[in-house]
Amino acid sequence: MTDLHLPLDRAAGRLSAQIAAGFRAAVRSGRLTAGTRLPSSRDLARDLGVSRGVVVTAYEQLIAEGFLLARRGDGTRVAPLARSDGTARSDGTGGTGGTGGAARSGGAGGTRDAAGSGGAARRGATGGPDDAPGPVPAYDLWPGHPDLSAFPRERWLAAARAALRVLPREELGYPDPAGALALRAELAGYLGRVRAAHADPGRLVIMNGVAQGLSGVVRVLAAAGHRTLAVEDPTSDRQLPMLAAAGVRLVRVPVDGQGLDVAALERTGARAVLVTPAHQYPTGVVLSPARRAALIAWARDVNGIVIEDDYDAEFRYDREPVGCLQGVDPDRVVLLGSVSKSLAPALRLGWVVAPPALAEGLRVHRSHHDLGTAVLEQHTLATLIESGAYDRHLRTMRRRYRARRDALAAALVEHLPGATVHGVSAGIHLYVDLPPGTDEAAVVARAADAGVRVTGARPMWSPARAAAARPALVLGYAGLSESRLARAAELLGRAVTQGARG
Ligand SMILES: Cc1ncc(COP(=O)(O)O)c(C=O)c1O
Repeated sequence: MTDLHLPLDRAAGRLSAQIAAGFRAAVRSGRLTAGTRLPSSRDLARDLGVSRGVVVTAYEQLIAEGFLLARRGDGTRVAPLARSDGTARSDGTGGTGGTGGAARSGGAGGTRDAAGSGGAARRGATGGPDDAPGPVPAYDLWPGHPDLSAFPRERWLAAARAALRVLPREELGYPDPAGALALRAELAGYLGRVRAAHADPGRLVIMNGVAQGLSGVVRVLAAAGHRTLAVEDPTSDRQLPMLAAAGVRLVRVPVDGQGLDVAALERTGARAVLVTPAHQYPTGVVLSPARRAALIAWARDVNGIVIEDDYDAEFRYDREPVGCLQGVDPDRVVLLGSVSKSLAPALRLGWVVAPPALAEGLRVHRSHHDLGTAVLEQHTLATLIESGAYDRHLRTMRRRYRARRDALAAALVEHLPGATVHGVSAGIHLYVDLPPGTDEAAVVARAADAGVRVTGARPMWSPARAAAARPALVLGYAGLSESRLARAAELLGRAVTQGARG
């Protein structure tokens, strides 16, 4: 214990995570206010009786998340954007009025490749922008899918059985459109623990995936007067028609090596923006601490709202995942996530963590549109999380995906000289620049002929920037073993060099 009141449970391990959590809680409760100077890592380590490296790790994590600022000669201080509960005011729609934050809840297999018959790989029946059935490709590197062969069938069945056995009869009626309380309570605890989110059941709405969450949030914002939504450039082209159908005009904002260009966002005049800060889709860059701070400052200046798509944040391999932006300003940021990357897209289970007024707007929206999400699946997921089986599954998958990412990146270096892999070691896809002058569409077509299904990056760029963007591929690696990824990279290399010769 120190005068900072950072309780440590040495038996629980991960001391740096405990220290970081203690600081976040202190900032949120107002015990630590913006500008407060923190002890040096050496002093705090001595006070807490831990090694200095433990404190340095915690400080680095909090700096990356935007809670702390470190300046040469000025030590480490609480960042101005880190706002405590009860001081923020927002109606959750980027309008005026409303109340501030609710209290934080303390709430709580083997793998086989889906190898097909080989031959032409136009489209598999595994989802994607074009859902027409087609031959199953020998090497499916379409991005967006986890390893479907690793779905924890037995654990899911056990959780479903356990949940159904004790489910009260009334729960089989029409559900709360915001979702089953049991799942919202479990997720509040999980997201607080794993994503440093500021979540409680009153802020959570269960949705049928991030896609439905986005569509619902944007519709509620449009009804509250938002006319324009800023989206990243490049972005998931699959989402664009859905967002446009929600009744807003879309404006594109460039992404560079630090993530979204916030100065360019300011020039758009939009008051709502959709971002992927933890792992930009598709480039894989992480929003830098300075940009995080600038984005929150922008939201406050324009009385706006940031929609944070946290689609694959469970998977960071080189370090602890950076906590979500929503944890920094829960009244300006709406967090969306789902089990599509952690378990399976087919479950269509996701969540929105929103300021209370927006969460209520979303609940009403669902009561007007579809009466809520299937209840048995919600209770099954709640049981899976509560039993610890969900965390165990994620740990297994993290190891597997890391090995696959490393294998693919190494094979690309070997077989595609002149290509550059972008982004941090995270997620389940890679963004790889092809040598300048390569015909991206021709590479995709030649790869398909060789049985390798990939997508080019061009459809993900705005028409205005696509011409200047380097040819590139977005490769999903979750579903293939290391050896098959190496073979796929070899075939891709040939698809590129054939074009260079031809
Ligand atoms: C960036 C991004 N966000 C969200 C989604 C959709 O997720 P969900 O299945 O939860 O609707 C995807 C799907 O691939 C995605 O790539």
